[in-house]
Amino acid sequence: MPRIEAREKVTGAARYAAEYRLPGMTYAWVVPAAVPRGLVRAVDATAALATPGVLAVLSHDGGGRNAAPRLRPQAPELALLQGPEIAYRGQPVAMVVAETPEGAREAAAAVEVRYQPEPHHVLLSRDEPDSYVPDTVNAGYPGTVETGDVDAALAQSPVVVDVTYTTPPQHAAPMEPHSATAAWEGGTLTVYHSDQAPWRTAVTLAELFGVPTEDVHVIADHVGGGFGSKAMVRPPTVLAALAARAVGRPVRLAVTRQQMFTLVSYRTPTVQRLRLGAGRDGRLRAVWHEALQQSSRLTEYCEQTVTPTRVMYATPSLRTVHRLARLDVPTPSWMRAPGKTPGMFALECAMDELAHALRMDPVELRLRNEPDLEPGSGTPFSSRNLTGCLREGAARFGWADRDPAPGPHRAGRWLRGTGVAAAMYPGYLRPCTATARAEPGGRFTVRVAGVDIGTGARTALTQLAAEALGVPPDGVTVEIGHSAYGPAPAAGGSAGLASWGTAVHRACRALLGRLAAAGGEVPEGGIEERAGTGEDIESRPELSRHSYGAQFAEVAVHAVTGEVRLERMLGVFAAGRIVNPRTARSQLLGGMCMGLSGALHEGLEVDPRDGDFANHDLATYHVASHADFRGAEVVLLEDEDPGLNEIGVKGIGELGIVGAAAAVANAVHHATGVRVRDLPIHPEDLR
Ligand code: MOS
Repeated sequence: MPRIEAREKVTGAARYAAEYRLPGMTYAWVVPAAVPRGLVRAVDATAALATPGVLAVLSHDGGGRNAAPRLRPQAPELALLQGPEIAYRGQPVAMVVAETPEGAREAAAAVEVRYQPEPHHVLLSRDEPDSYVPDTVNAGYPGTVETGDVDAALAQSPVVVDVTYTTPPQHAAPMEPHSATAAWEGGTLTVYHSDQAPWRTAVTLAELFGVPTEDVHVIADHVGGGFGSKAMVRPPTVLAALAARAVGRPVRLAVTRQQMFTLVSYRTPTVQRLRLGAGRDGRLRAVWHEALQQSSRLTEYCEQTVTPTRVMYATPSLRTVHRLARLDVPTPSWMRAPGKTPGMFALECAMDELAHALRMDPVELRLRNEPDLEPGSGTPFSSRNLTGCLREGAARFGWADRDPAPGPHRAGRWLRGTGVAAAMYPGYLRPCTATARAEPGGRFTVRVAGVDIGTGARTALTQLAAEALGVPPDGVTVEIGHSAYGPAPAAGGSAGLASWGTAVHRACRALLGRLAAAGGEVPEGGIEERAGTGEDIESRPELSRHSYGAQFAEVAVHAVTGEVRLERMLGVFAAGRIVNPRTARSQLLGGMCMGLSGALHEGLEVDPRDGDFANHDLATYHVASHADFRGAEVVLLEDEDPGLNEIGVKGIGELGIVGAAAAVANAVHHATGVRVRDLPIHPEDLR
């Protein structure tokens, strides 16, 4: 089924958050902190207030005139304009509201802020003296998991690989920048918002402003990507609502591309040391994976980077440890496949290094270490077809023809190589409610506070609803993107379709039951049923629930310049039931492209002098384009998993990026014989 809103999108009729124009609308512009740590001593708004059309200059004390309304934040990074403390460069210290965006921008430049700077530390080093091991990390995983005697097993292993990889901070860079258009009517707040989680945004804003959740309406009809950056409330959203309350008129705050780089989070840098011990038969005896990462002074966010190592390969001894250092930086947060993306880069490159040390084929090495139970916990798998993905991929990619010797492999002016890596991502089912409604004329309407961030969610939900109701897809209208439709999880954690779809399925079945009991008659006003998914699937830890995949890449590396070109790429995935193969393929390709981008292009450069990201636009923060991403294909295996939900959906939003960077890096090594352990791989690393 083609995308339902395709025509709206290609004709420009689909409206995004910054395209809503409300009567009497005004515009906000942020004044960012120019120092990474310290205090705001004074905000002088005299010149800014003299700019034509300026309505207010808000700051924590307002210079005695324009103090920002008080908030009740649960998350410290949302305590905006509430005090003088500065925790990162770019943190909002004031905000201008004006009749035009141009006026707001001009006035923001005229706001004079005096600082009391303090010494700062913004650059994560390989050995952070003040780092520590947190008890739990993002998504509730334990900070450390250990089984067996790793030290003894490593000492007794005939083959040991001990390697350290680094990955840089990365920016989500969604095509549509963040924006919020906020309006208060009495105690009711409406926000048109670029959002992955409208219901949760409503809950957060209600807490911040001390109003009931049902008095906050968050509307996200169309969203141009998010990759995690829109999966929780970021500062600009709060500022828009704050400004609207302060001036008593609707306010639009559209974040500029450059402001995006400090205001809407990023992926933490990592330093990862992996020690693998194996017998000469290739069977792992010890796996030790330790990751050092950063958070801000405001919040402890520790990415779950070593968690995939607890799931991937059979080993009698395992030690997986997260370490965290808190620096004077913006708070890192979720970005596509948090933890799994950097963690599987390191693990899957280390497995490639082990294969070379053993003179063993890297596909064969993975097959030999396939576990019967999840290694870190001993739980059975709800389903797991990594071996099927590896075998199918190897056959389709022509892996058997590969020269097993490490490079360089010369073909004229180019060196050529192929690489493989595994992919994995957890399957989640989150609390969600949906309503299904029958109208007298025979039509159905289904509502759930999910959101389509470009994935095809609206289309797949329509297919699932039609199937549950036993009608063709054009007999049902699915409405999403509005917080008022009830509790629903984010389009994040790859849990969207599994959760919304299960709730929709149950609501539709409940409605059919009601209809049957009523003899099939729909009364005048229609009838409606509500149903949901209940608690988080993690409360049932008796199964290990994941999707799997295998990534294959072929690269050409220019022998003189070191330029790396992708020649072809194949991702084979076993990811539960695929509701819509067309949009699923597109989403998995997008993930693979983002993985390629992380291997070769993406990386934020931190300026240690002022704490800024030096590259903060799309000219200097490179992301892979169509021209970079050539010859890529996706194969989806049949994969039945009864352990997650009755619709068999596992989720595919993140699986495609996992392992993709490792496959490319392993191919670069195969082509050149050079092992680059620090992403991104630059031409100068290969010359
Ligand atoms: Mo995704 S980083 O869980 O939105």
